[in-house]
Amino acid sequence: MASYLEENQDRFLSELLDWLRIPSVSADPKFHGDVLKAADYLKARFEELGVENVELCQTAGNPIVYGEKIVDPSLPTVLVYGHYDVQPADPYELWTSPPFEPVIKDEKIYARGACDDKGQVYMHVKAFEVMMKEGGVPCNVKFMIEGEEEIGSNNLGIFVRENKEKLKADVILISDTGMLANDVPSIEVGLRGLSYHEVEVTGPNRDLHSGLYGGAVANPINVLCKMIASLHDENNHITIPGFYDQVDELSAEDRAEMAKAPHSDDEFKKSIGLTDIYGEKGYSTLERTSIRPTLDVNGIWGGYTGEGAKTVIASKAFAKISMRLVPHQTSEQISQLFQDHFQSIAPSGVTVVVKPHHGGEPVVTPTDSVAYKAAADAMETTFGKRPIPTRGGGSIPIVAMFKSELGLDTVLLGFGLDSDAIHSPNEHYGVFNFLKGIETIPHFYRNYAAAMKS
Ligand code: BES
Ligand code: MN
Ligand code: MN
Repeated sequence: MASYLEENQDRFLSELLDWLRIPSVSADPKFHGDVLKAADYLKARFEELGVENVELCQTAGNPIVYGEKIVDPSLPTVLVYGHYDVQPADPYELWTSPPFEPVIKDEKIYARGACDDKGQVYMHVKAFEVMMKEGGVPCNVKFMIEGEEEIGSNNLGIFVRENKEKLKADVILISDTGMLANDVPSIEVGLRGLSYHEVEVTGPNRDLHSGLYGGAVANPINVLCKMIASLHDENNHITIPGFYDQVDELSAEDRAEMAKAPHSDDEFKKSIGLTDIYGEKGYSTLERTSIRPTLDVNGIWGGYTGEGAKTVIASKAFAKISMRLVPHQTSEQISQLFQDHFQSIAPSGVTVVVKPHHGGEPVVTPTDSVAYKAAADAMETTFGKRPIPTRGGGSIPIVAMFKSELGLDTVLLGFGLDSDAIHSPNEHYGVFNFLKGIETIPHFYRNYAAAMKS
């Protein structure tokens, strides 16, 4: 006999595609109306499933979609978090099909937000539907789906601080991360923090003819490049004084344990078209992308970048520079170190302004908790293999706040793959992953509710 999920999977997919058609880009004010439409869409889906007290919680920014199903106040409560906002889809010309006209090709859903995070949020919506049809949810559920994750979750931070009673729960459940491969289930047990800055280097008071002035003035672009280049040494260590002081160094045992996760540098290179690997000396690729802090330039501009040549020395040069942080670095402390250092390496003759953007704290989630075991058992049931705990490289800033403000641990039950191209052109999400998520989540609830009872 076909299961409810099997019977309804086509509808589940088409509902997700409808949601993906709404371009809920939070970074660009032009899409503000669509952001609100995406929130409304989700609210309506919750309401028709019998989620209770569904509301759009207004903030100074985009609304938070909240809803709950309290089966019995004496039962444990799972708070599901996710985000309905998406990254900008630019550059559009690199997409093989338009980012907001979702299509299913080769068993994958192509659209901005397909994996990050609408596709993964929708697994929770449909898992709830499945549970309701198959006897009800075994414990209380609260849903809190925000619209500003991709721009730093500042308003959600305020909302969490002001609504501790409403958000009372026993554990946070999030599907907004990845796993190693479809036949290698894994659960992320860590996220990196973030310290993000914009820098501006100013030289002469106007753009100059590079023949008349070149050689006799500090060129802000040359200077900026030199300053940036000096932020790493020949071993690719970051040179900011004090940068590594708080870094939690893993024991040899922990590193050996990590090295057991299947990984091939050849596959890694091939998957992104590289001829060699690169990174901090003394660490493996997996370590470089998880337990080690990094510094990267995310954008750099200035001078003439149009057609043809223009012989000019620009008055200003700019860059966006971000650092991924690991326990026990804090974004505040690292931001201060960065600002002080970046100012200190500016040669005389230019002025440097450093503007901090949003930050976020790193987290490590427990593997010995009831909720982690419930998640690992759920994946073992549906994948036929015990998931491997891995430390993730990405950031979800609110997770550290769930711990500090609500005292709650998080389980990162993510079903994405690194190859899903999140934030990139041609973002996609496997139909397998979407359906596997819907199949796995109800097992989590059952395992968790049963374990909490005993
Ligand atoms: N879902 C991602 C984070 C992620 C992806 C974690 C894959 C682990 C595995 C999230 O939406 C994201 O993109 N976060 C941003 C930070 C935010 C402050 C813009 C990031 O990591 O760059
Ligand atoms: Mn996300
Ligand atoms: Mn994202």
